[in-house]
Amino acid sequence: MKAVILAGGLGTRLRPLTYSIPKSLVPIAGKPLIRRVIDTLPSSVDTVILAVSYMKEALEDYFRVEPCGRKVILVNESSPMGTGGALTNVAQHIDGTFIVLNGDCVSSLDIKAMVRGHRETGGIGTLALWEVEDPSAFGVVEIGRNMRIIDFQEKPSREEAKSNLINAGVYVFEPEILDYIGKGQVSIEREVFPRVLEYGLFGQRFEGFWVDCGTLKNTLVAQREMLDRESPPVLSNLDCQQIPPNLIQSKEMKGCHIGPNVCIEPDVRIGEGARVDNALIMKGASIGANCKITGSIIGPGIKVTDNESVVEGILANR
Ligand code: GTP
Repeated sequence: MKAVILAGGLGTRLRPLTYSIPKSLVPIAGKPLIRRVIDTLPSSVDTVILAVSYMKEALEDYFRVEPCGRKVILVNESSPMGTGGALTNVAQHIDGTFIVLNGDCVSSLDIKAMVRGHRETGGIGTLALWEVEDPSAFGVVEIGRNMRIIDFQEKPSREEAKSNLINAGVYVFEPEILDYIGKGQVSIEREVFPRVLEYGLFGQRFEGFWVDCGTLKNTLVAQREMLDRESPPVLSNLDCQQIPPNLIQSKEMKGCHIGPNVCIEPDVRIGEGARVDNALIMKGASIGANCKITGSIIGPGIKVTDNESVVEGILANR
């Protein structure tokens, strides 16, 4: 079976970090986001098609040195064609029921069970659905009998929302869906789904966790979720006070306070008296003495000078 991962977006909400690294390669608790997405695919998926555009060379380089145990085909769009246009662009590789995933969400979805459920419906597509308390910031799905989708609403007000179920960005499709996309830049969510409702679109709910890592806040929520699940060991040979969970891959620190929810990549230096919590400190960065870093991402090689505070910010080179 084949899976298409949409990984060509500009990631504007994570700028300036995404000027130098595509969102799919942002590390979430020690693993690039895209690798976390690939690792949730069932073993029946032997080929992963990456629909890429922005910073595709960085993804090519990553998969060259870090094979993921499946065949990976990168298909480029000369400029981003939207989530639907990206599928038309990979159509020559599709030869049966296939999976599509947004490349920026981590979740506990059981994709194998979703594929099984999809085959039972006989519909053209199945969407993974996630329940939220307030759906007003999302694409909302209205469900009829047997989980058949009867309508979509884009960012409805809380009162007008027809359900609390939102599109979680994972789909199983029959190849016929490709006939309804059309040419040029197309959004699968807004343009194609309403068009194919009559051919049977079904929803499948799941529980556990789901995080769309499109923003700074959510990237750190996803990091926390993974750290809680994977519980990296607390390192006893470091000169710092730690509140777990953290993933610390550098030893160059002295008399500082780290955690909870901190990931520190290799070759990072942290100065005396610095306090770091709820943060990602990337390769080669240095945090000066008495700095305070909270709710933030410090990009590769960035130097934060002594006594500076970074609160809910992203620092990165352009
Ligand atoms: P923002 O600019 O911050 O909204 O991020 P984004 O460009 O990634 O857009 P969004 O979060 O809506 O995208 C959801 C998923 O679809 C991400 O995995 C994107 O990489 C992917 N995506 C969005 N637009 C395109 C596109 O035009 N082509 C391809 N191949 N993927 C896309």
